Amino acid sequence: MPREFNFLSKLTGCFSQPAAGNPTVAMIEAAYRHHGLNWRYINCEVTPESLGDAVRGARAMRWAGFNCSLPDKVAVIEHLDGLGDSAAIMRAVNCAVRRGSKYVGENTDGKGFLMSLEGIIDPRGRRVVLFGAGGAARAIGVELALAGAYSISVVNRSAGRGAELVRLIKDNTSAKAEPIDWERKYSVQPDADIVINATSIGRQQIGALLAGGADAILLETMSDPAEAVIGIDVRIVGGCCGTTSEHLLEISRALKGL
Ligand SMILES: NC(=O)c1ccc[n+]([C@@H]2O[C@H](COP(=O)([O-])OP(=O)(O)OC[C@H]3O[C@@H](n4cnc5c(N)ncnc54)[C@H](OP(=O)(O)O)[C@@H]3O)[C@@H](O)[C@H]2O)c1
Repeated sequence: MPREFNFLSKLTGCFSQPAAGNPTVAMIEAAYRHHGLNWRYINCEVTPESLGDAVRGARAMRWAGFNCSLPDKVAVIEHLDGLGDSAAIMRAVNCAVRRGSKYVGENTDGKGFLMSLEGIIDPRGRRVVLFGAGGAARAIGVELALAGAYSISVVNRSAGRGAELVRLIKDNTSAKAEPIDWERKYSVQPDADIVINATSIGRQQIGALLAGGADAILLETMSDPAEAVIGIDVRIVGGCCGTTSEHLLEISRALKGL
């Protein structure tokens, strides 16, 4: 049998800004190679102003799908043809998938985050303090509420955005939720079980904005080095890619194979 050649790869990738520090491409391309797939994952620097053009480009080139990271998770919605169930509640998208001729926005951020709780703490019946009200916080807040969290206190710098997330949780789940304005220093309530940093500021900066501690777990979505320490009495568990030693080892293995 003569060997068949196919020089047309299926295309996937990520739109974000800044894109250079995002290691997802190393992990995904390593996975494609491992499985013998003729697929590519292209990491693209896309400004908010050019997001629409980027999506139109993906359509023109028939990309199979793309991830969206900062700052595009909410803004991308107007460029898509529809939303999956959880993305529709969260109004935030971290991946668009081509189904037929349509691009449908999905959200796996919150689900992935819940997985990082497995074996550490069951969110059911827990009191959660959630810093942030952006795309990541919406995904995490809604998934925690759907998973049975008792209450979610949304602590955010902009009051309007915090109130919007609280409304989203109350309208779509049975969890209690309250907005808390984050002015200067904030003391985590002593009865909090889970504290989450879903802002785009790092652990050092968030530590400077916290006063007092809680016997709780601080999970976070930032990919800053795990060794950074803040002065609150909590256990720190990584959430997003690049935050745990296991994630870093996987990335390192993937990079060695490139
Ligand atoms: N599933 C995950 O775990 C996951 C997945 C992907 C990315 N991430 C990471 O999650 C983080 C947030 O992403 P996002 O998409 O939610 O961003 P976003 O939509 O831009 O939201 C940013 C959030 O951070 C807050 N913030 C920014 N600067 C601040 C400051 N100086 N002081 C206090 N609050 C500040 C914002 O408050 P205002 O509303 O007041 O502006 C807002 O709540 C990023 O680091 C991202 O890389 C997590």
